[in-house]
Amino acid sequence: MSMFRQVRGQLHAEQVPVEKIARKVGTPFYLYSQTAIVNQLTALQSAFAPIRPLICYSVKANGNLAILKTLVRRGAGLDIVSGGELFRARRAGCPPQRIVFAGVGKSPEEIRSALKARIFCFNVESIPELEAIEREAERLKQRAPVALRVNPNIKADTHHYITTGTAENKFGIPLADAEKLILSGSWGQFHRIDLKGFHLHIGSQITQTAPFVAAVERIAPMIERLRGRGVLIDWLNLGGGLGITYQSEAPLNPRILAGKLIPVLKRLNVRLIFEPGRFLLGNAGILVTRILYVKETRTKRFAIVDAGMNDLIRPALYGAHHGIVPVRPALPAGQAGKSGAGARKLRYDVVGPVCESGDFFAKDRRLPKLAAGDLLAVLSVGAYGFTMASHYNARPNPPEVLVKGKRMAVIRKRERPADLIRGEQIPRL
Ligand SMILES: Cc1ncc(COP(=O)(O)O)c(C=O)c1O
Repeated sequence: MSMFRQVRGQLHAEQVPVEKIARKVGTPFYLYSQTAIVNQLTALQSAFAPIRPLICYSVKANGNLAILKTLVRRGAGLDIVSGGELFRARRAGCPPQRIVFAGVGKSPEEIRSALKARIFCFNVESIPELEAIEREAERLKQRAPVALRVNPNIKADTHHYITTGTAENKFGIPLADAEKLILSGSWGQFHRIDLKGFHLHIGSQITQTAPFVAAVERIAPMIERLRGRGVLIDWLNLGGGLGITYQSEAPLNPRILAGKLIPVLKRLNVRLIFEPGRFLLGNAGILVTRILYVKETRTKRFAIVDAGMNDLIRPALYGAHHGIVPVRPALPAGQAGKSGAGARKLRYDVVGPVCESGDFFAKDRRLPKLAAGDLLAVLSVGAYGFTMASHYNARPNPPEVLVKGKRMAVIRKRERPADLIRGEQIPRL
C-alpha cells in the first residue's frame, strides 16, 4: 500500500498533508516515507529469513544519513562504491562487518581506507584490481576479504543503460575466467586474499524472478566444482536490481523470489547477500514542485515547474516514466470533499526551468486542469533522485524531508547560493 495517498482531497505522506510541508520548507523538495522504506526492508528480510540473508542497501540509490540510519538500525548492511560512500556508511553507524564495496575503479586510497575500516568484503571486478588489493593488504599486513564479481552473461529485460550482466558490459569477470583463475597456480600469489564468495549484479529494475534464478543456476555448477576441488564458497551476493512499480509493472515479489531461490541456495550451502537500492527506496519518495507558469502554444500546453532536470534527471537520462499527481486535485463542480479523479483531463508537458529541451518530467501527460501556484508530486523518486542531482544552471539542491506517521523532519537543508561556490577560488595568475 502506498504511503502517499489522497485523503479528503489532498495528498498526504503517511499522515502529514504534503501542502503543510510545502508551506514549511518551500518548493521544490524531496519527501520520503520512513514507513514505506521499513516495510520494503521487512518484506525482503522476512521472505528470506529461513536462510538469514544479509541485505546490504545500495547507498548510491539514496545516501542521506537519516535514510542509511533507518535501514542500518533494522539490521541492514550497506553496499558502497566509493570512499565517499564508505565515509557516509561509517557516519551512519553501519558496522563495518556489514559493508560490501563494489565498483570497477577502486583507487589505492579507497582500498586502503576500506581495509583499515575492516569491511566485510570487496566485490572485485578484475584481476588488476585483485592485485591492487593484495598490494595494499600486504602494506597494511592485513587479510583482504573478497568476492569475485562474475559476469554470468544474463540479459535482464530492462533499460540498456542499467543491464550489467551481459558479456559486453564493463562489469565483472567472465564466469569461466573466474574459475580458471581460482584453480590456477597464479591464485597462490594472492597471499593476503581471502575468497569469501561470488558477487553478481545482472541489472536494475528487474520485475521477473527468472533472471535471478537463471543467474544462480548458471553459477551453481561452478560453486559445486570448486567445492569438489576443496575451494569452499560461503557467500553468494546476487546484487540489486529488484524492480518496483513506476507505471503499471507488477513489482518483484520477494516471497515468490524466495520460494525459487531458497532451495537452490540451501543445496549449495551458501549464505545470501542482496544489494537492493531501488526496491527499498524507489516508491518511498516523491518530489514536490510548484507550477510557476502554464504556457499554451499552438501545439502544446506546458506546466513549467520550479524543479528541474538538475533535481531529478531520470526522465532526461533514461526516458524514465514517473507518475505525476496534483497535491490538491481540482474537483469537478459540486464534488467538494471527493477525489478529483473524475475531473476532465488535459494534456501537459511538465517541464523545468533549466535551459535544455531534455528538462522535462513528463510529455503529453493527461492531468486535471492545472494553474500557476498548484503543487505537483512526481512519484517514485526515492531512489536515484536526489543522489543524481547536480548544480547545473547554478541551481541549489532542494531539501529532503522524512515523514513517519504524523511527524516530519528535514533531513537535509535547502542549499543556499553560497553552497554553489563552496571550494571555488579566484586565482591571481
Ligand atoms: C553492483 C550493484 N549492486 C546494487 C545496485 C543497486 O541496484 P538497484 O537499485 O537496482 O537495486 C547496483 C546499481 O547499479 C549495482 O551496480
